[in-house]
Amino acid sequence: SLFKGKSKMIALFVPDIMNPFFPELARAVEDVTNHHGYTFILCNTDDEIEKEQTYLNALQQKSVDGIIIVSSTITKELISKIKIPIIALDRIIGANMSSVTVNNREGAREAVRYLKSIGCQRIAHICGPDHVINTAERMKGYLDEVKDEDWFLSSYIVSGEYYFQTATQAMKKLLTVHPEIDGIFVGNDLMGVGVLKGAKELGIRVPDELSVIAFDGIMLGETTTPSLTTMAQPIYEIGARAAEMLLEQINDSKYQSKREEFTVQLIERQSTRKRG
Ligand code: RIB
Repeated sequence: SLFKGKSKMIALFVPDIMNPFFPELARAVEDVTNHHGYTFILCNTDDEIEKEQTYLNALQQKSVDGIIIVSSTITKELISKIKIPIIALDRIIGANMSSVTVNNREGAREAVRYLKSIGCQRIAHICGPDHVINTAERMKGYLDEVKDEDWFLSSYIVSGEYYFQTATQAMKKLLTVHPEIDGIFVGNDLMGVGVLKGAKELGIRVPDELSVIAFDGIMLGETTTPSLTTMAQPIYEIGARAAEMLLEQINDSKYQSKREEFTVQLIERQSTRKRG
């Protein structure tokens, strides 16, 4: 194709390098690109359009062959100016752009159904930042399962912004106002770990008094006490698949854009337990 073999370099944009989800994803992208003889550049954007713009300009000057983007801020306008193959990973960007994502809505439904199945009767949701499409999808999944329950209150939904500290604070506020809550579906694992800290500070015992399930399946969730039940994304697989797709796009002049969706999987650990 037009772009073939310029620099043998590939870049990955991540919105938050401090969240272990993204280095785990980057690991996979690097493995696949290296395996095919490409070098790999990691750009941390903080989900800020100015940083994305700056990196895009720099990468174009370096003639990178392709870019994998995790973003909720980048605009179609900005992307249309970039004449480099691009794949959206984890968060869908434009309708026509190839993407690799997971079934966020269905995964969230499954998380809430699981909390119900172990006997939780007042289930809250600590969600991510509202500009992120995955936040909206996971919220829909949560609402699908709770909106018709007579106990449901809209104040059972609070934002933890996908950060550890913010989630601890949000959780403590929530449980102070609503001590009846006995289950929380948390929008990602990093916040899930923050929620466990909040419970400890409030003297709430997990899982005896409160069950906590999160989303992502990062390694950190295995290391906490109690360890974190989660809806695990196939993190390595989606990263690897995005890299393969990008290489197809670079090397195949007949490449057709496509959307691939992977399935999340429940991993039961110690932060949830059936109520007696
Ligand atoms: O933990 C980071 C979150 O942001 C993940 O859930 C991922 O899906 C992303 O959008």
